[in-house]
Amino acid sequence: MNYTRMVIEKEAPEEYGYDRIRYNLSESSIADQKLSEIGLSLPDLTLFYGEHRGDKQLRALISAQDAGISPDDVLVTAGAAGALFIISTSLLSANDHLVVIRPNYATNIETPRAIGCAISFVDLAFEEGFAIDVERVKAALRPDTKLISVTCPHNPTGTMMSRTELDALVALAESSNCRLLVDETYRDLSYDRRLPTAASLSPRAISVSSLSKAFGIPGIRIGWLITRDAELQEKFLAAKEQIGICGSVIDEGIARGMLERRDVFLATLLPEMAKRRDIVQAWIDRDPLV
Ligand SMILES: Cc1ncc(COP(=O)(O)O)c(C=O)c1O
Repeated sequence: MNYTRMVIEKEAPEEYGYDRIRYNLSESSIADQKLSEIGLSLPDLTLFYGEHRGDKQLRALISAQDAGISPDDVLVTAGAAGALFIISTSLLSANDHLVVIRPNYATNIETPRAIGCAISFVDLAFEEGFAIDVERVKAALRPDTKLISVTCPHNPTGTMMSRTELDALVALAESSNCRLLVDETYRDLSYDRRLPTAASLSPRAISVSSLSKAFGIPGIRIGWLITRDAELQEKFLAAKEQIGICGSVIDEGIARGMLERRDVFLATLLPEMAKRRDIVQAWIDRDPLV
């Protein structure tokens, strides 16, 4: 592995200094939450090694969000970032090829680069509404392609694939004997429609998400990956165990509390965000250069 620091992380607000930033106009998450704001306090937890896959109840809360997913399909990780690292390092070697639908989250490009694998990019264009042309993805595939990587809802544009496009990418991964990674970290911030978690559609698809963005609690470093391929999950678990054995029982305890409140939390958040979206849209409609 040939690591170099990513610009996005060097320039992150927490690295630059929260106290030096007056107005953060580029934040992609909701405001960071305090324990008291979400009605949580720290329970008197036993600080043992937690279950390696992640707390059972937490995995049950995550899997309950989607039909066809069981708690054993879920691996709790140190944020979505931890999940993405586990996936890249488990699936890719210097002899493999990866297709990245770009823009994509930096880790989905830089970890494969650190591994040294070959990467083909399928660039999304403003003029095309950042729509994914599945035929271009297909044309980028090679016999040594191990993974197709995409982010949806998309960071930084906020656009989403249609169900038809998602199905077409899943079908492509199945027919090409490779895997589809869908980074779904912003999924709970979808306004009108939520796509099914990709992993529920095929054992060839892997989903990643976390509590960082829609729930505003990135400091607990809780994310997860989902795969219905039990053999692959065993490999991902081996990677997690070699990195850190298990997650933090304190982080997992808070995550459990947050997900128990999930529906109520999102029910107040999403209408407020839709209101703000409409205000911004009204500005844009008035002056397209805004
Ligand atoms: C698309 C995407 N994936 C993953 C992450 C990492 O999030 P986490 O805090 O869950 O590690 C981010 C953070 O900005 C992101 O934007």
